[in-house]
Amino acid sequence: MEKILVIDFGGQYNQLIARRVRELSVFAEIIPYDKITCKEIKEAGYRGVIFTGGPNSVYDESSPHFDPGFLDLNIPILGICYGCQLIAYTAGGEICSAGSISEYGKTELTVCPCRLFEGIPEKSICWMSHTDYVKSLPEGFGITAFTPSCLCAAFADEKRDIYAVQFHPEVTHTEFGKRIIENFVKSICGCSGDWTAESFIETSVEKFRRELAGKKVLCALSGGVDSSVAAVLLNKAIGSRLICVFVDHGLLRKNEGDIVERVMKEKMGLNLIRINAQSRFLKKLEGVTAPEEKRKRIGEEFIRVFEDVASETGKVDVLVQGTIYPDVIESGKGDAAVIKSHHNVGGLPDVIKFEKIVEPLRDLFKDEVRAVGRELGIPADLVNRQPFPGPGLAIRIIGEVTRERLEILKECDAIFREEIDSAGLADQISQYFAVLTNCRTVGVMGDAGTYGYTLALRAVTTDDFMTADFARIPFETLAKASNRITNEVRSIGRVAYDITAKPPATVEWE
Ligand code: XMP
Repeated sequence: MEKILVIDFGGQYNQLIARRVRELSVFAEIIPYDKITCKEIKEAGYRGVIFTGGPNSVYDESSPHFDPGFLDLNIPILGICYGCQLIAYTAGGEICSAGSISEYGKTELTVCPCRLFEGIPEKSICWMSHTDYVKSLPEGFGITAFTPSCLCAAFADEKRDIYAVQFHPEVTHTEFGKRIIENFVKSICGCSGDWTAESFIETSVEKFRRELAGKKVLCALSGGVDSSVAAVLLNKAIGSRLICVFVDHGLLRKNEGDIVERVMKEKMGLNLIRINAQSRFLKKLEGVTAPEEKRKRIGEEFIRVFEDVASETGKVDVLVQGTIYPDVIESGKGDAAVIKSHHNVGGLPDVIKFEKIVEPLRDLFKDEVRAVGRELGIPADLVNRQPFPGPGLAIRIIGEVTRERLEILKECDAIFREEIDSAGLADQISQYFAVLTNCRTVGVMGDAGTYGYTLALRAVTTDDFMTADFARIPFETLAKASNRITNEVRSIGRVAYDITAKPPATVEWE
């Protein structure tokens, strides 16, 4: 498989670099600068190497460096920002602090003819963000671009296929950034771009068929995107030797348990065991009002349910985890199996006896997981589903979780989702749901007074869920949802829309 190595020096856009390469249908892998040697790079057969940006200055004592041997690998190299300075520094050039002329933001870039800049106009806009700059170039290198305040905005040794750019081609503010990365990956590294969802499935199926021959494999299905795609992919490889266990804790959204079961069992043909454990979970949640205690009890009960499953299935050889690439990068690549601390599978490996963990999606970003899911034929509404917390609706009911409150919330949440859907807003909102507060409120209905619950609606837009803004849903949609909820769910006396950003609030109420 054609692949590009992204050597990570700690810059903020590093994942974006890998994304840009993958958008060209070429596999890109991010590895920290101190976790790979020249020998490993050679052996792994990378077609090209990209050095990322980073927050350091090459002269800082603690700043990251690479083995000078990296430059003699005979593999094309592209250095970006800090990676660019590091190439110059390592090869014997001089780096200086730009001091008062440091550049941040959009700048006019002038490029000279060079393979990296093929098809790019002489003048365009690029995104700069640096305080150091390359003052003098090492032997063999020539300047290939400049800006009004940076004489050496790019340089190259075309004979050795080593290229360096001080600006960031990976961000959209760089007008021809995509083309620059494409020039590097396709024309300089010679990649054809054969890495697609289809080819990923084909290679994975072949690999797991071989690796898991004769093995008994268990997958804990949560109904979420990652575990569903992992299960369907493995099912394609090993069929009924994959046992999928779907624990329905009763805290899923309206009809969700049935939908997951129907789709996975009937449409996708999985060997699925559904465990209806609603009463068990409700019992554990009796009298509990503190959010963390709810999470803890739900997590523990999952383990208890799995202990029972384990006694029925007996020893399994392999456990499947739905770990995806961002989890791997965040927890430091190179570590052995990274076990996701999802609330719904937390602690599982301790109760199920197994020899090995398999993570079929550990190389994929979320949108790539969705693309694989679609290619596998999983219905769009399951593949495009918004994130849903492991403890489910329990943390969207403020105060005690009872059967009655759970039913009220399920109805209200379903109506809100229907209204968002029919207004055509579903694709524009990252996560939206209803919260049942424990605030009772006075109202009137006909001639009688009422004293119902206050329901809160929450909808956010976000890229990464670390920060979020409330979605600007049109009043008409909110009015329609509110009207339907108060008419159709008698115990609701008032509906409020949450207009808080994160921070200071979180996405969930608990
Ligand atoms: P917060 O509320 O922390 O939510 O701003 C950020 C994202 O995380 C989800 N979330 C959870 N997911 N178990 C999960 O699996 C949890 O306990 C949990 N709490 C929050 C939340 O839905 C949002 O997508």
